[in-house]
Amino acid sequence: ETGMFTYDPGYTSTGSCSSAVTYIDGDAGILLHRGYAIEDLAMHCDFTEVAYLLLRGELPTAPKKTEFEKIITYHTMVHEQLHKFYDGFRRDAHPMAVMCGVVGALSAFYHDSIDITDPIQRMIAQHRLVAKMPTIAAWAYKYSQGQPFMYPRNNLTYAENFLHMMFATPCEEYKVSPVLARAMDRILILHADHEQNASTSTVRLAGSSGANPFACIAAGIASLWGPAHGGANEAVLKMLTEIGSPDRVDDFVKKAKDKNDPFRLMGFGHRVYKNYDPRAKIMAATCHEVLDELGIVDEPLLEIAMRLEKIALEDEYFIEKKLYPNVDFYSGIIFRAIGIPTSMFTCLFALARTVGWISQWKEMIEDPDQKIGRPRQLYNGATKRDFLPMDKR
Ligand code: SDX
Repeated sequence: ETGMFTYDPGYTSTGSCSSAVTYIDGDAGILLHRGYAIEDLAMHCDFTEVAYLLLRGELPTAPKKTEFEKIITYHTMVHEQLHKFYDGFRRDAHPMAVMCGVVGALSAFYHDSIDITDPIQRMIAQHRLVAKMPTIAAWAYKYSQGQPFMYPRNNLTYAENFLHMMFATPCEEYKVSPVLARAMDRILILHADHEQNASTSTVRLAGSSGANPFACIAAGIASLWGPAHGGANEAVLKMLTEIGSPDRVDDFVKKAKDKNDPFRLMGFGHRVYKNYDPRAKIMAATCHEVLDELGIVDEPLLEIAMRLEKIALEDEYFIEKKLYPNVDFYSGIIFRAIGIPTSMFTCLFALARTVGWISQWKEMIEDPDQKIGRPRQLYNGATKRDFLPMDKR
């Protein structure tokens, strides 16, 4: 008696949804946002342009872009009382724990943007979340360093502002080099949205109950944190450091192929891509650009990563399993070169992905046929049985 009830296929699964935001062809390695190829967006746009596209469905004209940038810029400050939330954390708290807590708390401050039935309030919530994430993330880093929080500057771009809040101090400006600002823009674009991944599905499911947008994004941050998802960029750096030198790569590739060994190559493989993740190609090129700009000629981790990629792409196990580098494989090397600590890597992923999460949330909330998500299950527990009083057990 397996206890298995027959599964009624009539129930509509809420595991899938229709969406017009992002399209992925995993076999061909194609990624489109609102029909535009990620390669074109990453090479020719800045992050606010892509944020506008994801949220509003079209690339902005110059005046529209300027107007949108102004709106976002004037939402980058956070309520002054939010400072106090940081003081409640230990200095060594993981920045993702801080981001989860602070973002969830935003709904306690911004009562004028939590009524999801009001289109104006929904719009304000979208702008606030996109605008405040860099500030919240950078302050998590400053808090961990025991440094004063840096306020956003209205004369800086989205990417420049984040780097400024991360690395400037009241004693010294942080000069953002155009190449680094460009690289940061591109990295944010590459992480902006990715169809129905685990964290986006979490945001949709949370939002389907009518929960406020700040709470939904906090749920997405929690899901992204896992090493199988957004936490992989941090795990890649730990793996490359553990490998330690290019001549040890073969041993680790062997470990990754051993069914009895739980070790997996971080930054490799993908639920959807069975071809090269198009974002990984752009990330690899950006990695070389940033290292060149910073005059870093012998980055050992890059050497190990390139050797690991070469071996894996020629190895029949990885070819047969269709395992390729994904978006997380090179990003950590760039972040480290810029001076961003490993613990902040997933926070960067979260701040970039916020616009994707909130675009998908908006699409769902504005769907007149939207219902609360209610996944079903294949029950494999006990069939009905008679109750046993304590003395009979
Ligand atoms: C992200 O969904 C998204 O879109 C996510 C994301 C986004 O933008 O939101 O793209 C971001 O999360 C990228 C993925 C980051 N995670 C990692 O890099 C962690 C390492 N990768 C793996 O843990 C893994 O590849 C997953 C979790 C990403 C996917 O795992 P699956 O679903 O098991 O992959 P699969 O079914 O395609 O695996 C096929 C086979 C399996 O072996 P068999 O069961 O068939 O024997 O390949 C094996 C896997 O065990 N395999 C790996 C491997 N990844 C899969 N073996 C060694 N090393 C790996 N990295």
